[in-house]
Formats: sequence, structure tokens, C-alpha cells
Amino acid sequence: MEKRRILFVCLGNICRSPLGEGILRQRAEERGLKHLVETESAGTGGWHQGDPPDHRSIAVGRSHGIDIGAQRARQLKVDDFTQFDLIFAMDRDNLRNLVQRAPHDSSADLHLFMDYVSGTTRDVPDPYYGTPRDFEHVFAMLDEGCGYLLDTLFGRKVRQG
Ligand code: 4NP
Repeated sequence: MEKRRILFVCLGNICRSPLGEGILRQRAEERGLKHLVETESAGTGGWHQGDPPDHRSIAVGRSHGIDIGAQRARQLKVDDFTQFDLIFAMDRDNLRNLVQRAPHDSSADLHLFMDYVSGTTRDVPDPYYGTPRDFEHVFAMLDEGCGYLLDTLFGRKVRQG
């Protein structure tokens, strides 16, 4: 099976997309698919370049056994459009931004994440000015979505027992 290169994109690359990256990497590993999934994340904005994820994203990840503390924010770059097969926008603003920036010869597929994984035009809402509950909600959407994504790309997990 072919390796898939998957990029998660949000605005700041400190709240939502770092969680998408960390969750997908961990869930892929748990399914024995580590060698088939390469994932990163980036922000459409560059204000947080080099920063660790927001402490609330680190905390919600940790509470679910996923460590994103070593990840560092970076801004989207033009090479991303050729380096990745699938680029997922967290919300419709991010998607508009991606579409505007994509070079004409871009080989990447650009999608709204929730549309790709559930067929619904829903945003993963920006939790930056929100509460820990909002971060839990983001985590749940991304975790469920990453499960569907892995099912879609690689087939359903073989359940044992
Ligand atoms: P993210 O959240 O796009 O999920 O990383 C945000 C992080 C920072 C800002 C906005 C959203 N900000 O305005 O700095």
C-alpha cells in the first residue's frame, strides 16, 4: 500500500492542527500503519512560528494519552502543496486561504476536514478564545475524524477477539 502524506492546516498551528497531527500519528501507530502515514501541521498565519502548541491543546491531548508537546508551529509554505497528498483545512476560512495560495500545478488534494471524513460541511471550531470544554470538543471531532480517515484510506481495522 502507498504511503500517504497528510497535512493539517489551521490559522495559528497551535490549537487545532497540532492536535490533528498528533492524533493521526498515534492512531496510525496503534493500527500498525505507522510506515504508511506521514503527517505534519501548519498555520496559514505565521505569528506562532517556532512555538509549542497551546497549553490547553497539550493538556487535552495528554488526557487522552497523546503527547504533542514536542511539536512546533510553522507557517504553511508553497512546497507543502507538492510535498503532501492530502491537505486538510480545519475551517472554511482556512480552506479559502489554501485554495487562494495553491499553485496552479499543485498536486495536493485540498479538503475541509469534516467534509472529507463525515460528508458534512462543518468547521472544527477555533477554540483559542474558548474554554477547556471547547478543546475537548475539538479533540473529539478530530479523533473521530482521524478514525474515519484511517478507515477510508487503509480499510477498517481488523478487530481481534
Ligand atoms: P488555531 O487557533 O488556528 O487552532 O491554532 C488559533 C491560535 C492562535 C490564534 C488564533 C487561532 N491567534 O489569533 O493568535
